[in-house]
Amino acid sequence: MDSKERAGNWAAAQVADGMAVGLGTGSTASWFVKALARRIREEKLTLTLASSSYSTSQMALELGMRLIPLEHVTRLDVYADGADEFDPQRRLIKGRGAAMVQEKHLVHLSDRFLVLVDPSKRVERLGTNFPVPVEVLPFAVGLVKKELEALGAVVSLRPAGTSKDGPVVSDQGNLVLDARFDAAGDVAGLDPVLNDIPGVVGHGLFTRYADRVTVAVGHDERVEVIG
Ligand code: A5P
Repeated sequence: MDSKERAGNWAAAQVADGMAVGLGTGSTASWFVKALARRIREEKLTLTLASSSYSTSQMALELGMRLIPLEHVTRLDVYADGADEFDPQRRLIKGRGAAMVQEKHLVHLSDRFLVLVDPSKRVERLGTNFPVPVEVLPFAVGLVKKELEALGAVVSLRPAGTSKDGPVVSDQGNLVLDARFDAAGDVAGLDPVLNDIPGVVGHGLFTRYADRVTVAVGHDERVEVIG
C-alpha cells in the first residue's frame, strides 16, 4: 500500500458516527475521502460533510457523499487534509492545489486537524522545499508581488499549465503568487505579515493551529502519529 493511502485510511478510521467532518484537497486527502466513502457505505455512518474545493466536491459527489455548503459549516469535529511541508512544531505549508483559503477556513472551525503526509513532507524549517502560495485579488497582483519581494521572496505567478493559457484561477476566482523564501529565515513568522498586505485573500502558512494538529506520516508498513 502506498504511504499516502495508508495515512488516508488511518484518518478515515478516526471518524465516528454522527461527526461533522471536513474533506481536504490533494492526492493524499483523496485517499481519506475514498476510505471514508467506503466506511459510510459499509457501516451506514451518518456524517455531516463539507469539502475544501471543487476538485474534492466532484470526487465526493461521485462517491455518493452528500455535502453541505461551506457557509453552513459552523464547527467540525475533524478536518483531514494533506500538506506540502510540516516542521517539528507541527506548522505547515499548504496550497500546492491552490485551495488553501477554503482549507484554512475549515481548519479554523475544526476541533481536530489530521495532517496526512508521506515522509518527504517533513522539514526542519518551513520553506525548504516549497514556496508559500498566496491567493491574491486579481487587481492587486502587482502590489502584492512587490511587497513579497520586499520581504525577500522570489515570486512567480502560478501558471495554469497546459489546461489554459495564463495563470491558475482559484475556486474563488483569484490568482496565486508562489513566494519562495529563504528557509534559513523565519518563514513561519511571516504568517501575520502576509495577512496584512492589501489584496491578499489568504496564504498557505498554517502556523496557528499546532494545538489541534495531529500529523499522520504514512510509511511502507505503518503510520507514525505525531501530536
Ligand atoms: C491543496 O491546496 C493542498 O493544500 C494540499 O493539501 C497539499 O498541497 C498536499 O497535497 P498532496 O497530498 O497532493 O501532496
